[in-house]
Amino acid sequence: MKVLGIETSCDETGVAIYDTDTGLRAHCLHSQIDLHAAYGGVVPELASRDHIRRLPLLLRQTLAAAGLAAADIDAVAYTSGPGLAGALLVGASVAESFAMARGIPALPVHHLEGHLLSPLLSADPPAFPFVALLVSGGHTQLMRVRGVGDYALLGESVDDAAGEAFDKTAKLLGLGYPGGPQLAGLAESGVPGRFRLPRPMLHSGDLDFSFSGLKTAVLNVVSAPDWDPARMADLAAEFQQAVVDVLCAKALAALKKVGLKTLVVAGGVGANRCLRATLDAALARRGGRVHYPEPALCTDNGAMIAFAGALRLAAGESVPEVCAVRIRPRW
Ligand code: KG4
Ligand code: ZN
Repeated sequence: MKVLGIETSCDETGVAIYDTDTGLRAHCLHSQIDLHAAYGGVVPELASRDHIRRLPLLLRQTLAAAGLAAADIDAVAYTSGPGLAGALLVGASVAESFAMARGIPALPVHHLEGHLLSPLLSADPPAFPFVALLVSGGHTQLMRVRGVGDYALLGESVDDAAGEAFDKTAKLLGLGYPGGPQLAGLAESGVPGRFRLPRPMLHSGDLDFSFSGLKTAVLNVVSAPDWDPARMADLAAEFQQAVVDVLCAKALAALKKVGLKTLVVAGGVGANRCLRATLDAALARRGGRVHYPEPALCTDNGAMIAFAGALRLAAGESVPEVCAVRIRPRW
């Protein structure tokens, strides 16, 4: 079965084809970073319009890269939510139209399920069951994953997501967009511990997170009369260390709680080098292992949607009979 995957939940247009016999056949991506950079954040209307412009081209490009024709596709999977309503509508409309025209099924997919299963696309995939740490711009969640579709939420952020905290803090430090990677880059040349920031909810006794106070703590430092901008890298390093300390402690607590030693990290913040080094070392000490998606599949992409759709269809998931554009922005 060859499944076409379409992702348009935010500011990346992603199209891919996953073949249940041979694996990922092609995946093409267009990032809108340059489009939104001037505004310091994603402008939803511009995002939707750019998805409209890019999607037909990417579709053709992906089919060509896979050496396939539209008639070879057996099913379509598309991101149905959560995400920006207008952006989701573009992907959903194209996916449902393609499926209707070809008389094949169209399956709405949860964006986070795509992220969560994306490490299974790597050369050395984790085996079920595992604990997943989902750290994106919109979500921070710990899940117990027993198999495809068998997910139990263990804990999540009660306010900002980890990526959101990175982005907002980067903005208040005057760093460019997208802020997360820039803040992480600056942190590499700083020393954590020269400033002291809180580790929110580190000892809360549950598996929930809170990151909005951390951003406020950074604001307090840079608003103080004795603030010296030359110390920005040290502040960035301490901020990053605070986020990483909490993510690492809670991920370890989650593994302990469910009695597992395999951790899967997915979502954009999973690209953070400090987070990776800390988790790798902590799991190695415990005889466990951390799995990540391939670097190209860490951020939003069509491959994870094609893959999640293919796994669900292969597991016998029924597809809605009636063609309709199904979006769930707050799913
Ligand atoms: O998964 P993703 O591409 O999109 C969402 O579904 O949100 O994640 C994007 C988030 C952004 O908040 C971005 O700042 C953050 O991931 N991010 C990072 C790094 N690379 C991306 N945060 C910290 N360190 C990084 N290296
Ligand atoms: Zn995402």
